[in-house]
Amino acid sequence: MEERWTVLKVLQWTTEYFGLKEIDQPRASAEVLLAHVLGLERIQLYLNFDRPLAPDELAAYRDSIRRRAAREPTPYITGKQEFWSLELEVTPAVLIPRPETELLVEKALELVKDSSKRVLDLGTGSGAIAIALTHECRAVRVIATDTSCAALLVARRNASRHGVDDRIAFVATDLFRGFSSSSPPFDVIISNPPYVGEKELPQLAPEIIRYEPKAALLAGPQGLAVIRRIIGDASAYLKEGGSLLLEIGAGQAEIMRAELSGDSLMGRFEFIRDYSGILRILHIQKVRG
Ligand SMILES: C[S@@+](CC[C@H](N)C(=O)[O-])C[C@H]1O[C@@H](n2cnc3c(N)ncnc32)[C@H](O)[C@@H]1O
Repeated sequence: MEERWTVLKVLQWTTEYFGLKEIDQPRASAEVLLAHVLGLERIQLYLNFDRPLAPDELAAYRDSIRRRAAREPTPYITGKQEFWSLELEVTPAVLIPRPETELLVEKALELVKDSSKRVLDLGTGSGAIAIALTHECRAVRVIATDTSCAALLVARRNASRHGVDDRIAFVATDLFRGFSSSSPPFDVIISNPPYVGEKELPQLAPEIIRYEPKAALLAGPQGLAVIRRIIGDASAYLKEGGSLLLEIGAGQAEIMRAELSGDSLMGRFEFIRDYSGILRILHIQKVRG
């Protein structure tokens, strides 16, 4: 008699298989993929343990297992990732938004409060930061840039899906190129830029090395090339008293502290720790004239 693959049975089998393949969180990954294939919420799997899979469901699930075992990140397989409790579309053209970046959004929200501030999001990727900010604060307007047109298409779709596309302008450009220092300055410039050093890349998880866009990760030998460019140019586009908020990598704060101490254009700066204790955000405030 042909074997009957029920929800419970495929979950048990996949958990063991992913464990052997050293996939992170094997049971959770199996559940997310199976729920996606069956069009169910994860919790609903628990109410359907005895449900047999139809041949086409089994084939689609097998395909997703094969992709995950080859280390493709789950969000690229399901095409979605949650950020700031908002479901975002992700494709291999965009970085998968990380929980650490929600801290950047939190800090920005403290600065914009409920006022009609102008924000510039450099390197918007999936649009995660710009969309979270405009979704949370109805008066904020954002210009969101990226060098990747493919990423901007994803970001635009995410913005319209969450009803904030009328308050975000997406622009394909290299950092500040195309902006004029005579145009109205921004209250906040925010960025989660690429910050991985070239030598660090091989130490990252295969999921990142093989699948996430290199342009979203790499920034010169120490990972500071883009951060330095942003800091060098930001002052010209910020209001007096305005803020530059940057996500940085572990260990980069000390280098930046030394470099910023001699900078006269930008004023006070502080580093903010993430929930693992890593100095993760650099906040620089432009001096008032
Ligand atoms: C680390 S990802 C961050 C994506 C998104 N903001 C997030 O937090 O999930 C960096 C993004 O910056 C973009 N990027 C890299 N260099 C850039 C540049 N010189 N100008 C504009 N965008 C750039 C990449 O294409 C990528 O989408």
